[in-house]
Amino acid sequence: MNERQSNLLHNRRVEFPFALFYATFMTYAACENASNGAFMIMPPYKTKMVEPIRILTKKERIVKIRRAGYNLFFLKSEDVTIDLLTDSGTGAMSEHQWAALMEGDESYAGSTSFFRLKKAVADILGFRLVIPTHQGRGAEAAFNKAVLKKGDIVTGNSPFDTTRAHIEHVGATIVDATCKEAFSFKNTSAFKGNVDIKKLERTLKQCGDTVAYVLLTMTCNSMGGQPISLANIKDVARLCTAYKRPLYYDIARFAENAFFIQEREKKYRTWSVHAIVREMMKHADGALMSAKKDAIVNMGGFIALRSAELYGRISPYSILNEGFLHYGGMSGRDMEALAVGLHEGTEEKYLRHRVGQTAYLAESLHRMNVPVIRPAGGHAVYVNAGLMLPHIPWNNFPAQALAIAVYIEGGIRGVEIGSIMEGRDPNTRESRRAHTELLRLAIPRRVYSQEHLDHVIETFRAVAHHKKRISGVRFRHEAPILRHFSSTFRLA
Ligand code: F0G
Repeated sequence: MNERQSNLLHNRRVEFPFALFYATFMTYAACENASNGAFMIMPPYKTKMVEPIRILTKKERIVKIRRAGYNLFFLKSEDVTIDLLTDSGTGAMSEHQWAALMEGDESYAGSTSFFRLKKAVADILGFRLVIPTHQGRGAEAAFNKAVLKKGDIVTGNSPFDTTRAHIEHVGATIVDATCKEAFSFKNTSAFKGNVDIKKLERTLKQCGDTVAYVLLTMTCNSMGGQPISLANIKDVARLCTAYKRPLYYDIARFAENAFFIQEREKKYRTWSVHAIVREMMKHADGALMSAKKDAIVNMGGFIALRSAELYGRISPYSILNEGFLHYGGMSGRDMEALAVGLHEGTEEKYLRHRVGQTAYLAESLHRMNVPVIRPAGGHAVYVNAGLMLPHIPWNNFPAQALAIAVYIEGGIRGVEIGSIMEGRDPNTRESRRAHTELLRLAIPRRVYSQEHLDHVIETFRAVAHHKKRISGVRFRHEAPILRHFSSTFRLA
């Protein structure tokens, strides 16, 4: 057996055959890293069941997208070839998860499945108390209703849209303290999900008890899926202790974040992902989880806590909307699959392949001069459509135009994260201009192969070829809230 074969079998990194390209981006990552996209990594799983993909012709796709009002949310999934709309709830469960479904205990109270979930949360994350919820936003709703009041402030790195909406819904305000590197497209720092510690301290000093809590989103979805370092987590925790403010995490993608820490933070290179996860979690008073991401289930979530007092305060809100404390909107079988998924989602071999896929896509696009956020985040590649299509003004939504073009060209569905999603200013009713016009290509877990990603890369090559001919879009019908979901468009 030669070295390459041995590497493949042991799930080690295998060199991508472009030495030059490899040398160019070594500046931000050590050469051993999976997350620099220089290696193709063998998936540590094989296929047992397949789901056919329907492949339409380009002509057919032109008709489909026109009928969908040029909004990709209105496409039928059967008309999509590679669906990169989201990595949320779109992962493939393992044989162990499917087997666990059979053991679901559907009792309303005292379900064995709940206690199995509780044990998995304690084993992986170290939190003793768990409130299950139907998905992440169920956890956000119950938690924020219980801990926030009008006029409060929440600060930390940039929260996800639904988190922001739940915080603002109870009349609280967010002070975004994401580090400035995150806002620079050119910056290739390893931890662009970090908090600006000086800004955080200023807020804590100036706002005192008005700061209800500090929230760290890991990885930071709103900032390109970028990770936060353990050094930064510890600095934030130190400030929270000093200013006596509680610290909570949004852990939708905590395992990917832990893997980045292992790869990029020298001090933790020899630590296992499990040990890093425990080290991350030990600083938090609690965590909110959308299990549809790193726990690789199609539906589910939870709130994990240490304090019985807080558990008691949140419980009524969860019972009101989610269900009794031993199921919270999930069936017993869902909790079984989630318990298994928490273990599988933190396996290093799986994570190496997963993060490697995202990096491979990002670096391949970058090599073709498609502008993407680098280094790639854990779950998605973010294309800077404003830079790629400079002839389209921001209010003709270049990222939506690019999304339409890549759907027509290759049947790929991404999502606009730009000025359509920004919406309108609630006071002036003016359209808000996004900081960057991004098209997000989120990669579902354990679903697509190298060949599928190569199809995405080839599609972008073709689109880049005729990019000057791509036109922007204007609203046909503009939805009053969360307009990206349900507005329709016409070509500008
Ligand atoms: N927190 C983060 C960081 C998220 O990315 C999401 C969802 C949520 C919370 C809410 O969880 O969907 O289970 O209610 N993100 C999805 C996405 C929708 O496409 O990025 P949920």
